[in-house]
Amino acid sequence: MIYDRAFDVVIDDAFLRLPGFIAGAEVLLKLEGLNPAGSIKIKTAVALVEGAELNGRLRPGQSVIESSSGNLGIALCQVCSAKGYPVTVVTDPNTNPACVRAMAALGANVIVVTDRDANGGFLGRRVEYIQRALRRDPQLVWLNQYANPANAAAHRDRTARYIHRELGSVDVLVVGVSTTGTLMGCLAYFREHSPSTRIVAVDTAGSVIFGQPPAPRHIPGIGASRRPELFVDAPDLDKVIVPEARTIAMCRRIAREYGLLIGGSSGTVLAGLDLIAATVPAGARVVAISPDFGDRYLHTIYDDEWAAAHYPQAPTAP
Ligand SMILES: Cc1ncc(COP(=O)(O)O)c(C=O)c1O
Repeated sequence: MIYDRAFDVVIDDAFLRLPGFIAGAEVLLKLEGLNPAGSIKIKTAVALVEGAELNGRLRPGQSVIESSSGNLGIALCQVCSAKGYPVTVVTDPNTNPACVRAMAALGANVIVVTDRDANGGFLGRRVEYIQRALRRDPQLVWLNQYANPANAAAHRDRTARYIHRELGSVDVLVVGVSTTGTLMGCLAYFREHSPSTRIVAVDTAGSVIFGQPPAPRHIPGIGASRRPELFVDAPDLDKVIVPEARTIAMCRRIAREYGLLIGGSSGTVLAGLDLIAATVPAGARVVAISPDFGDRYLHTIYDDEWAAAHYPQAPTAP
């Protein structure tokens, strides 16, 4: 297949079976790390930029600003460089240095905000930085992945549609949350086309999205220190909270047992699935979305010294 632009190369039909993950059930991992920019976020970035172009908010000559813990930033840089928009990405110290270098290599201006917000995270401060920048420069366009319906629409029209197209009405779909764009898009699609699918949303302990108390977190890409505007709770939505030490243990288990290096949010998603395994009926088909691979986390999640320093009380090895 020949593509015209790097960001068109989206692989939406690759699933890896994890035999034995839940006895008696079929567990399939949707591999979003195969996408350009290395994550699920390429779909979000294309939708944010092309949505803004379509509705006239983003025109040639303007510049883009966005907050990102890494993956959306890299994806946005790919899309913006190919389309000729200068881009500023506002990150924080939890952002992987390799991601910061990738954004810079793609031509972005990368800002690292170092003050924690009132909930112990950095998101509040990143958003304040953007709001100040917008007041200084009215030509700057904030695509706002936390509130922009194009984010959820990308996952309704691509991620969820492909899961359903390839696998039909799966019994359980497990999704991690940060902006909640993936979750809200999957919810919208499956409520319409496969209402019997049980949707399980997985967050990380210390994130406030589901109303849990805030606490410092160290794994980027999952959770938020501020509830995203996109998130609308629903009575039929299952919610699971995973402590970070369990995420680390799960990432290491998947590497050793299945030969796959997964990213932190994928480890959180699978650890969440593990916590509810007893409620998954025999014969069920389960899909868990893996937003990225583990290469960017070798110096954190997969590093023994880092893990021991950050989670001294908890066993992080399987
Ligand atoms: C690695 C990773 N996993 C999961 C997510 C969460 O996805 P969403 O923002 O759609 O909730 C993100 C978002 O930044 C991510 O980068």
